[in-house]
Amino acid sequence: MARAFTIAIDGPAAAGKGTLSKAVAAHFGFAHLDTGLLYRAVGAKLLLGMDAVMAARTLTTDDLQAEDLRSPEVAQAASKVAVIADVRSALLDFQRSFARRAGGAVLDGRDIGTVICPNAEAKLFVTASAEVRADRRFAELAASGSAISRAQVLADVKERDARDRDRAEAPLKPAADAILIDTSDMDIDTAVAEAIAAIEARLAD
Ligand code: DC
Repeated sequence: MARAFTIAIDGPAAAGKGTLSKAVAAHFGFAHLDTGLLYRAVGAKLLLGMDAVMAARTLTTDDLQAEDLRSPEVAQAASKVAVIADVRSALLDFQRSFARRAGGAVLDGRDIGTVICPNAEAKLFVTASAEVRADRRFAELAASGSAISRAQVLADVKERDARDRDRAEAPLKPAADAILIDTSDMDIDTAVAEAIAAIEARLAD
């Protein structure tokens, strides 16, 4: 496809957005940007002692390859730097130009359908109960050798949800025109099939 077509996928931590976004991007042959990685890269620099706004303003694509961006500590730091308006505005242009690239783009995050790409051609809001999300994240972390407890993972998920949802700048919430997908009782293949069907309906418009 030569024209721009933006698919915005938002939702809370560990709802399945990442897996879903990759599968949707592969299905349509679109480029994919995990915008959480931008905040994680800034959060990682904060943990190294850098000023968060400076880190956001000087971020490079190499920073997105840094090790340990998936760790629970970096996730919490990402959620903390994400409340800072100047951090968010420093990351805005990169996300918007990625979204309008020729050939189509899938962006996943918290505010893609509401703030970054309010005119996205298709918007999904992917969610699941906090318990189900904590179970999934715990299984991933345990498989990668982490010793973190399930109770700690659940507490982290709830803390991050509250911070992401209650902040003044670009809070986590579904866009009015987003299609809601609750993956609590759904396997990933069903969620992907549902997302693809919803997007195909928009593509046909
Ligand atoms: O999607 P994730 O878990 O990798 O995101 C890490 C944190 O980054 C999340 O807790 C809040 C922040 N974030 C955000 O504020 N806006 C986005 N579009 C993506 C992530």
